[in-house]
Amino acid sequence: MAKTAFITGVAGQDGGHLAKLLHEKGYVVYGMLRGQLEASHPRYSQLKQEMPYVKIVMADLLDLSALARAMQEIKPDEVYNLAAISHVGYSFRDPVLTADITGKGVLNMLEAIRLAGLEKTTRFYQASTSEMFGGLDYNRPEEGYTEEARFHPRSPYGVAKLYGHWITKNYRESYGMFATSGILFNHEGERRGPEFVTRKISKAVARIKLGKQDVLELGNLDSKRDWGYAGDYVEGMWRMLQQDEPGDFVLATGETHTIREFVELAFKETGIEITWQGKDVDELGIDKATGKTLVKINPEFFRPAEVDILLGDPTKAETVLGWKREVDFPGLVKLMVEYDLGFEAGRG
Ligand code: NAP
Ligand code: GDD
Repeated sequence: MAKTAFITGVAGQDGGHLAKLLHEKGYVVYGMLRGQLEASHPRYSQLKQEMPYVKIVMADLLDLSALARAMQEIKPDEVYNLAAISHVGYSFRDPVLTADITGKGVLNMLEAIRLAGLEKTTRFYQASTSEMFGGLDYNRPEEGYTEEARFHPRSPYGVAKLYGHWITKNYRESYGMFATSGILFNHEGERRGPEFVTRKISKAVARIKLGKQDVLELGNLDSKRDWGYAGDYVEGMWRMLQQDEPGDFVLATGETHTIREFVELAFKETGIEITWQGKDVDELGIDKATGKTLVKINPEFFRPAEVDILLGDPTKAETVLGWKREVDFPGLVKLMVEYDLGFEAGRG
């Protein structure tokens, strides 16, 4: 019999990759969207068109009764809890809502499974994050953060995710649930929201190349991230739920790069070489060939507190799950810029 999966946050970046993967593996896929009127919901028609095989359930992670009802009706074999306020910068602006959705929402989903009497049969995946680690001042990641590294979240988002991480472990230990936590480092791609830095860059580079935009404005160019491809990471999520035992698993590439490097490489994909002039907020990225300013700093994009470096050690996932990322850093930048060049050229 085909297995049934329930994905919260199905309209997000990872939700799209995961729904496709599970469908290809023969699963019956349910995807949860928040909102009220199905037909007038822009994501609803988009999802229906792109992934007609996803059975859409309208519910909010804040609404325990709706989640419990969904669990009672669907009785999924696997639940992937991907829904969250996931933008770190935004979480400083709306910390209370972030705590409710990104933190307590995890508890709602776990309780819904228990209320439906499925705690011994349904497997649960929680989307934990490398934002739970602190960066250089708190936790030196020379070899990369492992599942055992100390946490020191630096944003309302990271704090809320840490609650989600621990309540997942607590339900594992208290009720014997197969509740697993994937501690994922940044993963990107053509489905990434334009508010995240990699997609903001790839989109702007394509638009600048096509003469549709003049300048790209960014915040901190010197923070470092361990960036992989989202398509590789959803395979790791699925593998985590196929194990004999639940646990915590880091998914990462084991490499870290600055935002500046991403910018340079993205422009290089379109034949533009960037040179840097000036310092701090006055720093500019200049097109070496024309002398035109293409990158500026806008302090609006700085955060009240920042994780300066993220570097993960995926040894456990590689040995226990047999997982390995396929797309490397240059491959990721190329894939994103090529996608956006095609997309922006097609839009006229
Ligand atoms: P994403 O693109 O922001 O998707 C999150 C989805 O959650 C959105 O579609 C959003 O719906 C939905 N959502 C938000 N609040 C909700 C609510 N109250 N009820 C129901 N749905 C709600 O995020 P992603 O990049 O796919 O990431 C998936 C998960 O992994 C997130 O939990 C994220 O925090 C975590 N994570 C991501 C990364 C990464 O690098 N991508 C790394 C580590 C962990 P709307 O469209 O209606 O807003
Ligand atoms: N978004 C954004 N926009 N970030 C910028 C900008 C800008 O204009 N300029 C510089 N940055 C820097 C941020 O300050 C941060 O250091 C880095 O770029 C990455 O920012 P994001 O792409 O927004 O991702 P994130 O690392 O904060 O969070 C993502 O990864 C986490 C895993 O580590 C999100 O996907 C989280 O949901 C995820 O948990």
